[in-house]
Amino acid sequence: MTVDGIIELRSDTFTQPTDAMWEALDRPPLGDDISQEDPTVARLERRAASLLGKEDALLAISGTMANQVAVMTLTERGDEVIVSDRSHIYNLEVAALAALCQVQARPVHSADGQFDSAQISSLIRSPGIQAPKTGLICLENTHDLNQGIPVTLENMRRVGELSRDAGVPIYLDGARIFNAAAALEVDAGELTQDASLVQVCLTKGLGAPLGSVLAGTQETIGRARHMKQRLGGGMRQAGIIAAPGLVALGDERIAALREDHRRARVLRAALREVEGLDVYPRATLTNIVKIQLDAALDAGRFHSGLKRRGIRIKPVGGAAFRMVTHHQVSDEDISVTVCAIREVLTTCG
Ligand SMILES: Cc1ncc(COP(=O)(O)O)c(C=O)c1O
Repeated sequence: MTVDGIIELRSDTFTQPTDAMWEALDRPPLGDDISQEDPTVARLERRAASLLGKEDALLAISGTMANQVAVMTLTERGDEVIVSDRSHIYNLEVAALAALCQVQARPVHSADGQFDSAQISSLIRSPGIQAPKTGLICLENTHDLNQGIPVTLENMRRVGELSRDAGVPIYLDGARIFNAAAALEVDAGELTQDASLVQVCLTKGLGAPLGSVLAGTQETIGRARHMKQRLGGGMRQAGIIAAPGLVALGDERIAALREDHRRARVLRAALREVEGLDVYPRATLTNIVKIQLDAALDAGRFHSGLKRRGIRIKPVGGAAFRMVTHHQVSDEDISVTVCAIREVLTTCG
């Protein structure tokens, strides 16, 4: 279903609320959330905690805020934090790790989207008067926002084991954790098992207009509430956000992610037959398709040609583009997009 005739493939964050979300906004029970008296928020937090296999949860306004609240909760000033060099928390949060959390990021490369536990292990510092303390390992699943690679349960467990051995906690940015769980056919709670805190965004494939939920033990979430408040993230009648969020975390929306994945697979298979571009081999295990144009082709003309035809895709550096399926992309939209790409490519030589 296109909106205003536009096929929006830049991100799953560009979606409008579903009908059920609009209906949920019709006078949900509200209260003061800073005092933890909003019943709709409380329901959302219970639902998220249960889905993520944790005791407790808190609603934050965005994924970025949930990430920063988590790092502030789990580290001390001057700690070193191991992060993937492809992660959102390292690349796209305006250096908040340094500016707000006052920690030092130690990037680790994860070549095929999985985490190299041997490399992570080698980066954990021995205690010493001069060395920073390794305070946290940040993981992301799905990983790499331009590829959406599900990190396998085996890989998550391997890092979990080393985190326990080294006594360094894990934070999991699970902005799209339900996409990972659907692709891997595992329970989201299994993927989050070794994380002291995990967040999920309600606004990505799940389609809600606002909100992310951070989950962990009751004690850790209690501390995280203070950090959220410190950041100005305390809200009043936040049930307005939680009501559509509950629809986003409903069985129906979570199951629908598989349809997004199927459409991404169809798109990927069709584009593989198109001359002039490469489709990233692992890129569509979830809802994200990354393509790269041949060097001889004019990437600017390709982008603007599609835009003129009402198809929005996101340039992600060089001649690479990403396309993300979501609940407002239909089978027909995929066919129209493939035809348009074929047509536009003929003008880009
Ligand atoms: C992996 C990941 N983490 C965090 C975020 C941040 O979410 P928000 O845009 O709600 O701040 C995003 C957003 O795209 C993301 O892809």
